[in-house]
Amino acid sequence: MSRLVDIFKTKNKRRLKRTAKVDLRIPVHLAVIMDGNGRWARKRGLPRTAGHRAGAENLENVCEACIEQGIQYLTVYAFSTENWSRPTEEIDTLMDLFIEFIHRFDTKMAREGIRLRFSGDLAGLPAHLQSTISHAEENSRHRDRLQLIIALNYGGRRELAQACRKLAEQVRSGKIEPDTIDENLVRSALYLPDVPDPDLIIRPSGEQRLSNFLIWQSAYSEFWFSDVLWPDFNREHLLAALEAYTMRDRRFGGLKQI
Ligand code: FPP
Repeated sequence: MSRLVDIFKTKNKRRLKRTAKVDLRIPVHLAVIMDGNGRWARKRGLPRTAGHRAGAENLENVCEACIEQGIQYLTVYAFSTENWSRPTEEIDTLMDLFIEFIHRFDTKMAREGIRLRFSGDLAGLPAHLQSTISHAEENSRHRDRLQLIIALNYGGRRELAQACRKLAEQVRSGKIEPDTIDENLVRSALYLPDVPDPDLIIRPSGEQRLSNFLIWQSAYSEFWFSDVLWPDFNREHLLAALEAYTMRDRRFGGLKQI
């Protein structure tokens, strides 16, 4: 039995070493659906809010790992337009947690060169959170090592509906003609038009769906799913995702390069 364990450990060590040696192709933009906080807490007999707290702490570690790997944009799905249907207590804790995260992580973000941005229907968030967000965005505007984009009150369908409204207003005011509306104009009306599409989208926790996340931007994204719950998602899991991404053949509708 113990020999079997030894063999397993040796094999596992080799696998991790090999992972570290592989020449990784690094995505410019990584997006993550931070799922599984509730189940993580339930497994430990803790309230769901403890899972969200652990998830927020884990985000700090994942940011460090992204910087180490040279990823330039990290978008994380923190609160969707559908999450308002959760119990009030959970929503209130999450809103407090977002404010606490922005304050607590501030010094570290400054030291690491992390620019903080937000994506979503921000006008629908509590006023105090809105002002914390605008200060954080303004204070970190000059940093350029990693852009951490937090999707808050975000829904891909709402983003597209709001983009349609913006374009319709531009037509009404005579700024554009309807027949000039193409993919580039639609993109220009999205929340963060300057941010490149995500190359890789990771969803931990065993669910395999997009849940209204970046539906326009993910047209040619690669996906990586894992059973691990978000608070447990660590550097080794990130490296495994990057190794899988490295092996993908991205053709964007074209033909394989030979
Ligand atoms: C989904 O897991 C997670 C959320 C709806 C909230 C995500 C929030 C965090 C990771 C914490 C705070 C984030 C920041 C940016 C400070 P779930 O609750 O649906 O988990 P379950 O599917 O196991 O119930």
